[in-house]
Amino acid sequence: MYDYLLGGKHNFPADRAAAQQLLQVVPESADIALSNRLFLGRAVQALADRGIRQFIDLGSGIPTQGNVHEIVQRVHRASRVLYVDIDPVAIVAANEILADNPYCRAIEGDFTRPDLIADALTRGDLATIFDLDQPTALLYFAVLQQVRPSQVESIVAPLRDRLPAGSAIAISHISQVAVDTHGEDSVEIAKNVFRAQADTEITLRSPEEILPHFGDFTLLEPGLTRLPDWRPRRGEPDPYVNAPERSPMLGGVGIRA
Ligand SMILES: C[S@@+](CC[C@H](N)C(=O)[O-])C[C@H]1O[C@@H](n2cnc3c(N)ncnc32)[C@H](O)[C@@H]1O
Repeated sequence: MYDYLLGGKHNFPADRAAAQQLLQVVPESADIALSNRLFLGRAVQALADRGIRQFIDLGSGIPTQGNVHEIVQRVHRASRVLYVDIDPVAIVAANEILADNPYCRAIEGDFTRPDLIADALTRGDLATIFDLDQPTALLYFAVLQQVRPSQVESIVAPLRDRLPAGSAIAISHISQVAVDTHGEDSVEIAKNVFRAQADTEITLRSPEEILPHFGDFTLLEPGLTRLPDWRPRRGEPDPYVNAPERSPMLGGVGIRA
């Protein structure tokens, strides 16, 4: 669904039908997906520019155009990227894209099981590429809203808290502000589509509920903001650039001192 919303080619008739249904009730869905994707690009670029050379993208989807490895390997050719997604179709597509890339891997995995992800990184091929004792960026873009509120911290903390100084965590998240701008009814309809089509329960959170997941990491300026307000780039086609107050997602990037 997400790939279709972004105008990608890695989707099936069932994905397209579900995404069309979502677009009927929430016409802004494609705008939200694009705005999130552009935030991903700016956040990852900022981290690569700070010298981070290892990235773990949790709930990555399919790494097509403009994805993490393209951005960070433009800064440093040997930057490492691990893509993790629960969708086996996304991982097959990812492995095709990454076939000639010696520093990137895509694995089928569940980000709600950080213990298994950390364990996988210490074994076999992955252990020859990744080292969690080196500064690492954890990327949770548009994924934590799919986790029950009571579980989020226990999912994020085990990986986040074991990372060394110089590491980072980036989060984008659908926010409670969506209710103010789009109304309770639209939000409820959108949640119902996700329930029916993706068997996913979406939870909107306030900034105060999202902030604790950065742990003791220090937020880079401008903090946790609406996505188009996070270090906007002139000329970027963010659909919300002229009306950031309508953007329903928040994002931020934290660094461990
Ligand atoms: C909205 S997309 C976000 C993709 C990408 N992070 C981005 O922001 O462009 C959500 C992705 O999370 C994946 N996902 C959902 N639950 C997951 C889980 N428990 N573990 C790993 N991936 C998951 C889905 O398969 C999907 O690819």
